[in-house]
Amino acid sequence: MKQIESPAALRGFVQENRKSGKTISFVPTMGALHEGHLELVREGLSRTDICIPYIFLNSKQFAANEDLASYPKTLEGDLQKLKSVSASAVYLPNSQDIYPDGFVTKVSLGGVALPLEGEFRPVMFEGVATVVAKMLLQCLPDIALFGEKDWQQLQVIKQMVRDLDIPVDIIGVPTVRDENGLALSSRNAYLTKEQYAIAIQLNKILKEAAASGTEKDAAQKLLQAGFEKVDYVTIRDAVTLQPPDAKTKERRILAAAYLGRARLIDNMPV
Ligand code: PAJ
Repeated sequence: MKQIESPAALRGFVQENRKSGKTISFVPTMGALHEGHLELVREGLSRTDICIPYIFLNSKQFAANEDLASYPKTLEGDLQKLKSVSASAVYLPNSQDIYPDGFVTKVSLGGVALPLEGEFRPVMFEGVATVVAKMLLQCLPDIALFGEKDWQQLQVIKQMVRDLDIPVDIIGVPTVRDENGLALSSRNAYLTKEQYAIAIQLNKILKEAAASGTEKDAAQKLLQAGFEKVDYVTIRDAVTLQPPDAKTKERRILAAAYLGRARLIDNMPV
């Protein structure tokens, strides 16, 4: 597995592969990789000849009070995992490559980026969109894969790529869960054993609410289960993330709740 460390080297690698007729998929990550990330790479390899994941802990999507400094870093293990799923290469840019001195440009968002995560983590999506736009333009893959685990992020990126005519197909991949239904997340590493027992209630409470077609009582149930604070648990139009209306084709229940140091998010179809 080739390790690519600069934007120029990434472009060179992509060009070489294009010359020999290969199709290319791209998997953005911030590292601390788990089966969810690896599933994106497997799905990429099933759709294109080569798959290039990247690892870049994107400072711009963390607010000052968030967990940038303590975000888990497991580079050696990450590289082993990517090798084990036969990733073709891994892109490991440093922060000067991505945000050189004097960097000021931001992707400004509206619409689907504004509710839910947009309300509770107001700097996050701008930071995500800015780095993903840069990375997509550096690599120009045929497709890029994102997890449904971050459902709103997936919608924000689809909207951005459409609005800015970035010539890359965005593919969503279903959420990978553990044996208790907990959506895998790098931040699950923050959970103690006691907190884990509470965390696994999140997907169960969402499933019940989705089956009953209403979010009524779901917040109360999360608090009763032991979550400390619920940012939201709500059924929305799956594409606009607004409350469902007559035009809604697909509905989705989405939630974010705090448990100790971890803020867990999850979502599923209704
Ligand atoms: P990160 O949290 O590392 O996630 C990278 C990708 O893995 C995202 O597309 C995310 O949705 C997907 N993913 C995470 N957990 C998953 C799971 N359990 N099942 C399926 N997919 C899962 O999301 C980010 O990084 C960043 O915001 C990024 C897009 C890389 C921009 O910095």
